[in-house]
Order: sequence, then structure tokens, then C-alpha cells
Amino acid sequence: MFARSAVRALTSQSRLFSTTVARQTKVAVLGAGGGIGQPLSLLLKSDPLVTSLSLYDIRGAPGVAADVSHVDSASEVTGYAADKLDEALEGVQVVVIPAGVPRKTGMTRDDLFNTNASIVRDLASAIGRVSPTAHILVISNPVNSTVPIVASTLAKAGVYNPSRVFGVTTLDVVRAARFTAGIAGVHPNEASITVVGGHSGATIVPLLSQSKYGQSIKGEVYDKLVHRIQFGGDEVVKAKDGAGSATLSMAYAGAKFTHALLRGLNGEKGVITPTFVQSPLYKAQGIDFFSSNVELGVDGVEKIYPLGPLSVEEEKLMEACLPELKKNIEKGRAFVESS
Ligand code: NAD
Ligand code: LMR
Repeated sequence: MFARSAVRALTSQSRLFSTTVARQTKVAVLGAGGGIGQPLSLLLKSDPLVTSLSLYDIRGAPGVAADVSHVDSASEVTGYAADKLDEALEGVQVVVIPAGVPRKTGMTRDDLFNTNASIVRDLASAIGRVSPTAHILVISNPVNSTVPIVASTLAKAGVYNPSRVFGVTTLDVVRAARFTAGIAGVHPNEASITVVGGHSGATIVPLLSQSKYGQSIKGEVYDKLVHRIQFGGDEVVKAKDGAGSATLSMAYAGAKFTHALLRGLNGEKGVITPTFVQSPLYKAQGIDFFSSNVELGVDGVEKIYPLGPLSVEEEKLMEACLPELKKNIEKGRAFVESS
């Protein structure tokens, strides 16, 4: 019994983390005391590519750090209290940001803007000052606006490098694989789906036609699957009934994306995954940030891939995505300009 569950745990860990030899990589989590921050910190403690972990929150990070630091992996863990943000950012190469409030039933992600915009702006400003070359992974919602907020804040400080700012849309990719695999009756590893656009409702566009299993799903089943991928977050918010939004699956997705970035930073070739970055793909339509497949390399964004052929249905989904995404991006930018 024990042996079987140990094997299962190892198998699932090896799906999350490969075992490439690590260079010295210090990773900070800002918002480490929260629903996402705690399990994300635990998963990053288990990542062999993380050599040092810096945990910061306005509440509770030293406790989380003390707890996580007992896990028997090689990395060092330090927790920082509310007044120690600069110390937490000292010498970090990667900063993951799950700081901010989550949705409750009936709210959209955009409803979080008023609270989270200033949290993310102030954290980005500190990163620009203390660790301006760090790669920044934004989880805090609304991602379609918080990523432009980080970019504009760093640009204002004269330290913005578009290759180093990422919106984490991995949860959409994880959900798309899981839900598609459930319908096709295969393992999720075989049903990997490219999800493009942004991270909220209609801006989430799964390219099912490009997947062997996705392309055979048609009609009402297709419509329901697309809706579930676009509104999977609502499913969790509703089930948690006032206690917040996805935390555990997001921690998994956040650790998965961080690991992919670290593989790229380590010089591994061919690490490709969707992420929301400054992108030329829809610049002609006035949209500067977009999620599509991105190759991650030693300097962050190495190559941004075009979408490839779209089905008629996907063209329609893109029509709904683009205007909303544009609005969200402009809102983030305008916030920093007026700050
Ligand atoms: P939570 O309330 O459980 O945790 C948030 C943490 O942020 C808290 O510990 C809080 O103290 C901390 N915090 C607040 N202001 C801070 C600041 N200035 N500096 C540092 N820490 C600060 O919320 P959660 O469930 O962990 O969600 C966090 C965010 O992630 C929300 O905005 C949520 O919408 C978003 N989210 C994004 C995705 C995604 O796919 N990108 C998925 C799930 C949740
Ligand atoms: C998600 O997709 O689960 C997150 O963006 C959280 C939310 O508000 O739904």
C-alpha cells in the first residue's frame, strides 16, 4: 500500500519537475502566506532547479518559511515580514506574484482591479528598484491588466525588459488538458491543448482543433468544453462558496510554469508553453500583450510563436477575445499613467 502511494507521488512529482542539474537560482514568492502562496512555496521547495526561496507577505510569511524549510530538499528558505520587502528581493532571479485578493461568488476578475492594481504596481516598483533584472511571473488577477501594470511600472522606472515579464496562464492550459482528456478517455499528457489570448472568460481561447483528441470533439460537447475551459475558475469560486478561488490547482500551475522558465534559464532548448507576454501578434490591432506559445530561454522570452491555423469556431472565439483583451490592457496601462 505504502509502496504504491510512494510510487504515485514520485510519478506525479516527475510530471511536474524534470531533474536537470541546477544553476544557482533564487526565487521569491510575493504573497507567500496566501491560499496560492503556501502550496506554491511548498512545491517550489521541492523543485530541484530552485536553490534559494525567499518568501514574502504582509502577513505570515516567516511562519510559512519555517514550516516549508523543514522539507528535505537542498534549497534554503527565508521568510520576510511586511516591512522587509527589499530584503526579500535582494539577489532574486525569479519573482512569482500571487499577492492580492481573490474573487468571491458573483464577481468577475475585473472586479478585483481596484484592490489588486495598486498591490501589483507597488510590488513591481520595488522589484524595479531592488532586482531590476529579475523575471516576473504575475498570478494576481486580473492578469490581463496586472501584466501591463507591471510592464508600465518598470518602464516608468526605466528598467522594463519585455522578455522578463510573464502572465501565468498555465491554469487554463492545465484545465484544457484535464477536461479534454476526460472527454477523450486518454491521459491528460496526451491531450495537451494550446490556450491563447488572455486569462478571463471570453479572452481564454483554447485551440482544440490543433490537438489530435481536441479536433474530434464537435457540436454541443465542443461548446460545453470551450465554456468549461473559459469559465473553469467560476466552477471553483462557486464550489468554494465565499472562501475564494482556485488555490491548489493554481499552485500546481504556478510551480509548473516556474519550472519551465527555470529550465529555459538553465539553457535547456525547446521549452515551449503558452504565457501572456508583450507580443507582436496583434499589435496591429492595438493589442500589445497576448498569450500564445512562447519558447523560454536563457533570457526569458526566446521566441513567440504565431497561432497557426484556426477553425471557424476558433476564429469566432478570437473575435470575442480581442476587444475585451484590448480594454483590459488599456485599463492597466491607464492606471499606471495616472498613478
Ligand atoms: P489569498 O487572499 O488567499 O492570498 C493572497 C495573499 O496576498 C495574502 O496572504 C495577502 O496577505 C497577500 N498580500 C496582500 N497584499 C500584499 C502585498 N502588498 N504584498 C505581499 N502580499 C500581499 O488569495 P489567493 O487565493 O492566494 O489568490 C491570490 C491572487 O491570485 C488573486 O488575485 C487571485 O484572483 C489570483 N489567481 C490567479 C490565477 C491565475 O490563473 N493567474 C488563479 C487563481 C487565483
Ligand atoms: C482561475 O482561473 O481559477 C483564477 O483566475 C481565479 C478566478 O478568479 O477564477
